[in-house]
Amino acid sequence: MTFGIDDLPVRDELRGKSPYGAPQLDVPVRLNTNENPYPLPEALVERIAERVREAARDLNRYPDRDAVELRTQLARYLTNTSGHPLDVSNVWAANGSNEVIQQLLQTFGGPGRTAIGFEPSYSMHGLIARGTGTGWISGPRHEDFTIDVPAAEQAIAEHRPDVVFVTTPNNPTGNAVPAETVLALYEAAQAAKPSMVVVDEAYIEFSHGASLLPLLDGRPNLVVSRTMSKAFGAAGLRLGYLAAHPAVVDAVQLVRLPYHLSAVTQATALAALEHTDTLLKYVEQLKTERDRLVAELRAIGYEVTESDANFVQFGRFADSHATWRKILDRGVLVRDNGVPGWLRVTAGTPEENDAFLDAVREVKKEQNT
Ligand SMILES: Cc1ncc(COP(=O)(O)O)c(C=O)c1O
Repeated sequence: MTFGIDDLPVRDELRGKSPYGAPQLDVPVRLNTNENPYPLPEALVERIAERVREAARDLNRYPDRDAVELRTQLARYLTNTSGHPLDVSNVWAANGSNEVIQQLLQTFGGPGRTAIGFEPSYSMHGLIARGTGTGWISGPRHEDFTIDVPAAEQAIAEHRPDVVFVTTPNNPTGNAVPAETVLALYEAAQAAKPSMVVVDEAYIEFSHGASLLPLLDGRPNLVVSRTMSKAFGAAGLRLGYLAAHPAVVDAVQLVRLPYHLSAVTQATALAALEHTDTLLKYVEQLKTERDRLVAELRAIGYEVTESDANFVQFGRFADSHATWRKILDRGVLVRDNGVPGWLRVTAGTPEENDAFLDAVREVKKEQNT
């Protein structure tokens, strides 16, 4: 027997658990982690090199601990795209929105406290809750994956969670959550506790509808989290951010590590923000491809959940894992999120999507015969 995790004095709640792990397999077409398939344009690569070269001259010093220039530019981006005025005091940034979520749970969750999410949803909400010692409550959804508002209100009233997660567009299902639903859950959460409501808008740039940022007005316990991993095509950068009342920004600074955002990260993100217009043009192409995937999957005979994201949930399968394997055997990696009967495909380049559609056409034929 080799020495393993269970032989170490790890925390009880971590025993027997698995780390987050979307497979990183070496296959021709990888459509499993909701990345943007387009590499950064060459002009931006050059600008990143310039900005990082400048930052490198000061690497003997710690970076700007408060990332003021970056937060100012992120606030400008949010204001320009939502019409809702925000400034540096409303915005906080960290290494990916996963770290933003971790900081929020360290601040508002923790031992003796709980968080709720409406599942299936982004699995890291529950995993980060576990990592921060926050109890996790799995809230309900309807059969069609929309949030069952009366049942959700009841769960909030009963469990009185400290943090409520709402993901819109939702991952892995793709559907957007209407503003009225978020408002109803916010009211329920304030009546029960009051607690923080975190709206995870990681995919909002791909949505047919608008961001919920304007709901921040007059709601100090509401937080909107965002990322540069998807629309900005910069998953490798690790830059996530939140918008909220300035008091929330002050509160998360109680738990953030000093100098958590490296000077190289800040310089790279600032360069990417200079190229926002170009990067958002790729978003338009991806939205068109996403809509094509929805239409073609339906034409092939699959059921598809309405998608406002850069991915599409399709089914139904008697054995989704067996179907996942058949698609993989044809050189295309999609995601089995463990939602019984369903799989998820990320919108790739037109060529990648064609390869995926050819693969699922074949699989469908085989399953019909
Ligand atoms: C809903 C949702 N939120 C947050 C994230 C995390 O993004 P990142 O940490 O790359 O910013 C993801 C990544 O897939 C996601 O799907």
